[in-house]
Amino acid sequence: GGAVRDAGSGALTFAGADVRDLAREFGTPAYLIDEDDWRRRARAWVEAFGEDADVYYAGKSFLSVAIAKWAAEEGLHLDVCSGGELAVALRAGFPTARLGFHGNNKSAAELERAVAAGVGRIIVDSHDEIERLAAIAAEHGVRQRVLVRVTAGVEAHTHEFIATAHEDQKFGFSLAGGAAAEAVARILKHGEHLELMGLHSHIGSQIFDTAGFEVAAHRLSEALAAIKRDHGVELPELDLGGGLGIAYVETDDPAPIAETARRLKEIVARECDAAGLARPRISVEPGRAIAGPPGITLYEVGTVKPLPGLRTYVSVDGGMSDNIRTSLYDAEYTVRLVSRDSAAEPMLSRVVGKHCESGDIVVRDAWLPSDTAPGDLLAVAATGAYCRSMASNYNHVLKPPVIAVRAGAARVIVRRETEDDLLGLDLG
Ligand code: LLP
Repeated sequence: GGAVRDAGSGALTFAGADVRDLAREFGTPAYLIDEDDWRRRARAWVEAFGEDADVYYAGKSFLSVAIAKWAAEEGLHLDVCSGGELAVALRAGFPTARLGFHGNNKSAAELERAVAAGVGRIIVDSHDEIERLAAIAAEHGVRQRVLVRVTAGVEAHTHEFIATAHEDQKFGFSLAGGAAAEAVARILKHGEHLELMGLHSHIGSQIFDTAGFEVAAHRLSEALAAIKRDHGVELPELDLGGGLGIAYVETDDPAPIAETARRLKEIVARECDAAGLARPRISVEPGRAIAGPPGITLYEVGTVKPLPGLRTYVSVDGGMSDNIRTSLYDAEYTVRLVSRDSAAEPMLSRVVGKHCESGDIVVRDAWLPSDTAPGDLLAVAATGAYCRSMASNYNHVLKPPVIAVRAGAARVIVRRETEDDLLGLDLG
């Protein structure tokens, strides 16, 4: 991934740039993205799935105008799930036909904007939305392409998945309970204004065991066969969502993309051949797997507090406002000292932020050199997904910038927030 490398003589580099220079120039905390690595991962997905599939980058993992441009250049489609993400895509000039629009509660204004912009696919998630969208498409005199989001009854997280997941959650129409069939019938009834392209399912995130995708692919293929039986139509698309995991720590063991792509396509092909269906075009929606590994967060150490017999608390100049994942999901990260080489023995540490609560933890268990001191720089790896995009202004802390680094050259793609940005919202 976008790793910090030893360039010899104590210099540590990121995408060819000395991290100390980056810290001096842009300040800390800062999110750094290895642009070549990001682009390589995007291309790997596009190549693995091939010509008869589409790869929608999940913008929720991290989106900015520059990122939307990279995505377009590397041949990705783009999944947006709010008016805000759509606005970024539009500002970047992202080809609107290659956009997919998600959400369980898109507003009428958001749908209106999506239809007017020519968004390629709207993934519908409720009967209310189907009616609302049909009316908007009618007003605009267009036939909007849609996918139906279904719950395939599969739920996957990292190493386990359950094939009969409970359905007590807000997304999608239940396949097993018949709601999906009802939604399909309703969309077909609105055929003048809605064009049903296929089914969509998303089974979870940070998944290593791809058997969950295979069960979902199997159930969706069956559903396509049932739709052909009931309505005499063959839907041309099948979207299997996102969720492929990445390595945050050494013990994480993600499935290789090429292998995963091959197996998913094989299952859909087999199921559809057996049911006498034309093979649908497949799509997937990776977010973390593209954006996560190329990103790191650079922090400066402010205080070091040894707790005898326990551990040492190393406080950095950010925290839960720039990375909520550790406190929210108990997520694990790796961290290393990057301002210098140290031969000091490792000490059990906890890297914490500057916020006013004890749950403000960046890395729960870390081994840092025992001479780690104020002024040192730390890099937390694999923070390119769901860190900047989930950042907050808790304690009126300013959001860090995002810096793209490529062949030693750095460019700010999202600038650091200023006090004026924050106070400008406060009308007194
Ligand atoms: N497609 C849909 C419909 C999704 O809901 C998601 C993620 C994705 C694709 C992308 O999933 P990925 O490939 O990135 O796993 N904030 C959490 C993750 C929540 C993801 C929600 N949906 C985190 O920080 O781990």
